[in-house]
Amino acid sequence: MTTILGLSGSLRRASFNTGLLRAAAELAPELTPAGTTILQGSIRAVPLYDADLEAASGLPASVQQLQAQLRAADGLLMVTPEYNNGMPGVFKNAIDWMSRGPGLAYFVGKPVALLGASPGGFGTVLAQNDWLPVLRTLKAELWAEGRMLVSRASGLFDENGALTDDRTRAALRDFIAGYSATL
Ligand code: FNR
Repeated sequence: MTTILGLSGSLRRASFNTGLLRAAAELAPELTPAGTTILQGSIRAVPLYDADLEAASGLPASVQQLQAQLRAADGLLMVTPEYNNGMPGVFKNAIDWMSRGPGLAYFVGKPVALLGASPGGFGTVLAQNDWLPVLRTLKAELWAEGRMLVSRASGLFDENGALTDDRTRAALRDFIAGYSATL
């Protein structure tokens, strides 16, 4: 069975990006190979990275859980917001923690798909680009055949962050299907 770990880089209750991840997970039954699942991981409990904390107490339980989920996954789906033309600090912080200890090895060769949603007109293109040197450093494999930039997101999600736009859902289906077919 193919498992994809999905991570949203937003902690906001009605996050567009978390909504996009939920919509992707709902589409999973339509994907090939049959039985593909998208596990919605969470970065919420990850503390700010502190090397002293790591030296004194090791990896926090929240980080160990994410590492175990990454290790068991065939691919990593990163749904990134854009802050100040880059990736959000909370998301980078989580990935930094995940790369510590045994975690670095779980990124090596892992197929990663990037997507994101923003209320602006550029759909997180700069945040997605910002992840490229990070993925390279982690020796992850960027899946670059598809692109998913969701712009003007305010009109595409409801007040709870649920995706309501059929065209975006269809584009998401194509994107996820293209990615999952390579896993
Ligand atoms: C933003 N936002 C934003 N959007 C964008 O397209 N480009 C940008 O550079 C920025 N910069 C930015 C900085 C900061 C500090 C914040 C808080 C926000 C807007 C951002 O896309 C918007 O808040 C989204 O709703 C965030 O994603 P979620 O939480 O809806 O998933």
